[in-house]
Order: sequence, then structure tokens, then C-alpha cells
Amino acid sequence: MCGIVGYTGSEQAKGIILDGLKKLEYRGYDSAGIALQNKEGILVRKKQGKIADLEAFIKGERLVGTTGIGHTRWATHGVPSDLNAHPHTSSDGEIAVVHNGIVENYVELRNRLIEKNNIKFDTETDTEVIAKLIGVLHRQNGGNLEDAVYDAVKEMSGAYAIGVVSSNEKDKIVAYRKDAPLIAGVGNGCKFIASDIPALLKYVNDICLIENDEMVVCTPDEVKIYDSSRRPVKRDIMKVNWSIEDAEKGGYEHFMLKEIYEQPKAVEETLLRRIGDDGKIKLDGISLTAEDVKNFSKVYIVACGTAYHAGMLGKYVIEKMARIPVEIDVASEFRYRNPVVDEKTLFIAISQSGETLDTLAALREAKRCGARILSICNVVGSSVARESDDVFYTWAGPEIAVASTKAYTTQLVCMYLIGLYLADLMGTISKEYYDGIVRELMVMPAKITEALKRSNEIEELAKHLYNRTQVFFIGRGVDSAVALEGSLKLKEISYINSFAIAAGELKHGTIALMEPETIVIAIATQDYLFDKMYSNIVEVKARMAHVVSIAKEGNTKIEKESTETIYIPDCADEVTPILSVVPLQLFAYYVAKIKGEDIDKPRNLAKSVTVE
Ligand code: M6R
Repeated sequence: MCGIVGYTGSEQAKGIILDGLKKLEYRGYDSAGIALQNKEGILVRKKQGKIADLEAFIKGERLVGTTGIGHTRWATHGVPSDLNAHPHTSSDGEIAVVHNGIVENYVELRNRLIEKNNIKFDTETDTEVIAKLIGVLHRQNGGNLEDAVYDAVKEMSGAYAIGVVSSNEKDKIVAYRKDAPLIAGVGNGCKFIASDIPALLKYVNDICLIENDEMVVCTPDEVKIYDSSRRPVKRDIMKVNWSIEDAEKGGYEHFMLKEIYEQPKAVEETLLRRIGDDGKIKLDGISLTAEDVKNFSKVYIVACGTAYHAGMLGKYVIEKMARIPVEIDVASEFRYRNPVVDEKTLFIAISQSGETLDTLAALREAKRCGARILSICNVVGSSVARESDDVFYTWAGPEIAVASTKAYTTQLVCMYLIGLYLADLMGTISKEYYDGIVRELMVMPAKITEALKRSNEIEELAKHLYNRTQVFFIGRGVDSAVALEGSLKLKEISYINSFAIAAGELKHGTIALMEPETIVIAIATQDYLFDKMYSNIVEVKARMAHVVSIAKEGNTKIEKESTETIYIPDCADEVTPILSVVPLQLFAYYVAKIKGEDIDKPRNLAKSVTVE
């Protein structure tokens, strides 16, 4: 999705803004641009393609200015092109605008500006409409940028964040947030705006979160925030403890590989924050009482993509441990389903970014129906987190690669901790069982490290199989949820058509697709389901499939019917997903690498999906 960066201070803004934009590349984009304010007015440079293309385009030009805004665009209205790239300007060129999100009524606003104000448009974008509208209002009000932005957003519907500079208000950036991410950075003698924290980490760790329907005005000396009625708002500064190294590759070839290898640390952090020295789970800051929990008639888990796959494990875990019925849905379906949700529902939203629009909209729908909202988020202060009654943070650190890895494993950990916590309050599990699962979780960081040691084996496997056009993932119980995640990882970065199915469903249709040498990745880690799973492997093997099995160390029986077997460290059935996903992540990574794909920024995808 689009990324916004703005800087005002005493340094030259160009390099700082480009640095920030590079840190937002992970969000996905197809063009980039900057606008600088200097004594000649507003200077705009923009280019289709990568930031490197923009840098090459402006190389050798002396672009001065200590205040400016920059943008990476992910095309929605209008094709990716130099012309459609942001910033867009007002008709007189005095105002430049960058924008993330969608203005839903842009056609109506555009027609009105053409008819009433005789404005000419160069593009089909909604952003140009914002720039022209602010320009008209700015002229009408005698040149006050803040007034013009306020008046403009009153007329705009949709979800957006905008950053605006004007040639006649020096050293000032005005920005507005409505349902799209926006933060301000506070430095000594310099201030920033950005769509996400990594854009600012090189320069500041002090952040102000901007809420919905708030305007922020940055000058080198202060950040002023106003609510929708223009009343000043006092906002505490939040210290971000991520370092710039967290947001850089640190010697790894790709962010995805780095993040796969960061899983032991991420899982450990998430566990240590929630498990006390006495081995008890502490949900500090989460106000669920035993009475609340006993009153819930069901849990509803809603998320998208990988986060949804973590939620599928949540269903298994919560139902098994706490004996509370759990429904699960993808957010884009839930919100239009007229779901059966009320004040007796615990609604769990899972989102790494906390900015996924579908998840946010589903959360709002559940809230409207009276549900209690618990969210699982990685980004502190994100929209999902802020709109929830309680937040369970994952401590994965910044996840930059589009393909989610460490966020997923930490989300799995949260599912276990929530399952155990609810079960304890419900009195549905014994102390021995509770202590046993906690012990299993606590050794997961070391066991993930063990699983990662098999990466050479998996790279070899990828070398044999990278040129296949179709891969099936099968599993039973929690393994069927991991199968979905393995399949998504493979398809999103290697573009191989992959498909996941509960192994028992194969014979109800999908087995018709088995041909000699069809690749089937069989996740078979559940002792209690092993015989059933073994029969499924035999079935596909009988159709000459090439079977790669993922099994627990010591389970050599599986080798008989498997073409290849990848072992994960032995552990309790309940917690295998934290380990069995590791070889699947590595397999997707190596296949994509051998194919020469753009692993961290796969085609057509964005890290944070802030549009519907
Ligand atoms: O930020 P979120 O967790 O809400 O994102 C949800 C999905 O968009 C995300 O998991 C997506 O499926 C990833 N590309 C998967 O790797």
C-alpha cells in the first residue's frame, strides 16, 4: 500500500525523505515521488518504478529544501505511471499533496471542481482531486493551509491519510488521518510524518500516534494535533524500542530469510512477556475476569491471510482446552455476513500490521453488535489495537517482508496462551496439562533453532522441485491449518499454483488431480491422527505422487511411503505448528530464490492492505 513520509527541520529534506521511503518499500508500490518546499516554490519530482528509478531520475539535480513530503504509490485509481505518481499539486502549483487510501466520492468532487471552478485535471487519480480541492479552498480562504485542509476533508469520504505542503507557509507540513495509518516523529529541531515507524527509526524513536479524524501540523519546533472540531489535543510521546537494525537486513540476503531466523527470539519475547517465573500466564493489561469468560457463549476469530491461518489454530486450541465454541471467518466475509454476534461473544481480531482494512471493519461490526474485542497485533498503537477493548501484543519486532513468518509464529504462541488462560478460568484443564503445555512452549525457541539447522536439506529439496507448476499441501487436525499457511507462503512468493486441503477431504474430489510426480507435501505431526494420515499418504503415493512428508523426529515409519521426509524436533502434538511451519517457510523461500523472484516484494501484493 502507499507510504507517506514528511520532514521539516534544518537539514536538507531530500535524502531524509528518500531514506524514509526506502524503509516503506516493503508495503508494496509501483511509483515514487517527492515535493520540496524552497524559495522558488514547491518542487515536485516523481517517477514510475522503484525509488532507485526516482533517484536516478533526479541524480545530478540540486534539489534544495528543508521541508518536504514523499510518497510510494500502490496504484488504485489510474495505472502506475510518472503522471499518476504522487505528489499531486493544486492548479497554481502552490500546494502539493501525498495520499494513502481512497477518496470514495472523488468523481463527484472532480465533476464539481470542473463545473464550478473550471479546474483542469491531468490524471484519473483521486489524489489529484484532493490537491485541486485544497488549492481552491486555499485561494478562497485567503491562503490558510490548515483551514483549507479542514474544509477539504469535510467534503471527502473514504479512508485516507494525507500530507500537504504549501509554498506560502514555510517550514510547515499539515497532515490528516481518517482510517489510514499516520504517525508523527518528534526530533530535536525537526519533525516528521510517516505511514509507519520503520520510516523514522534512523532519525527518531519518539513517536506521536495520530488518531482518526485528527489533523497534525508539524513545524521544526513542534507537533500540534487537533481533533475534528479543531480543538487542540494533548498526545503523549511514545518511545519506540525498535532499533534501525531491526528494520534492516543485517547481512541476510532478504528480509524474509532474516525474519525466518528471528523466530526463536520473537517467540521467546512473546512468551517471556506473558509467562511469569511461577509458570503462570499473566495477561497484564487485559481485563478479562473469570466471570466475563464464563459469560461468553462463543469466541469469534476474524483475520486475513496468514493471520487467519493462525486463527485456525486458535479454534483448535480454544475449543480443545477451554471447551468454548469458536467460529472463525476471514474478515472480508465476516463484515458482510450479518454475523450472529452479541455481548456474549469474545471477538478476537488477529493482525500483524493492525491496519488491515477488512479486519478493522470486521472489528467495528463486532463492536457495534456488542462483542468484547480482544486483538492480537504486532504494531503497537495500530488502528486495530487502538479500537479494541484489550490488546495482546506479539513481540515479533518489525516484519518487513510481505510474506509473514515471525508474526505468524508469535500469533500461534498467543493462541496457546489465550487457550490456556481461558481454560484455566473455565476450569476445563488440569494443572498437569497446563504446566505441561507451558513447559513445551518454553522450549520452543530452542527447538525452532534446531529446525532451522535443516535449512540445507530444504534448499536441496527446493533445487529438485522448484520448476513444478502445482503443489498440494495436506494435513489433519492442526496440521491442516499449517498446510494452508505452507501453501500461501509458496504461492505468494514463488507464484507456483499451490493448494491446501484437509487430508481426509482428498478422496471427495481433489485426488482426481493426482498424477505421476504431482508434489504432495504431507504434514503428519499428530500422533493421534498418524494412522489416518498415513493412509492418505498411501492413497496419493498409489497415484505415483512425489510425497514430501513433515514428521516428528523418530517417526521413521513414514519414510516407507514418502519420497522425502523432513523431520522437526519431537514435541507434544498440540504445539507442533510452531515447528512444522519452519521447513515450509524455508521451502517457499528457497524455491522463490532459485526462481529469481522478488522475495520481499512479490508482485501484486502489499504488506499492509489498507484498502478493501
Ligand atoms: O497485517 P495483517 O496480519 O492484518 O495482514 C493480513 C494479511 O494481509 C497477511 O497475513 C498476508 O496474507 C501476508 N502476505 C501473508 O504472508
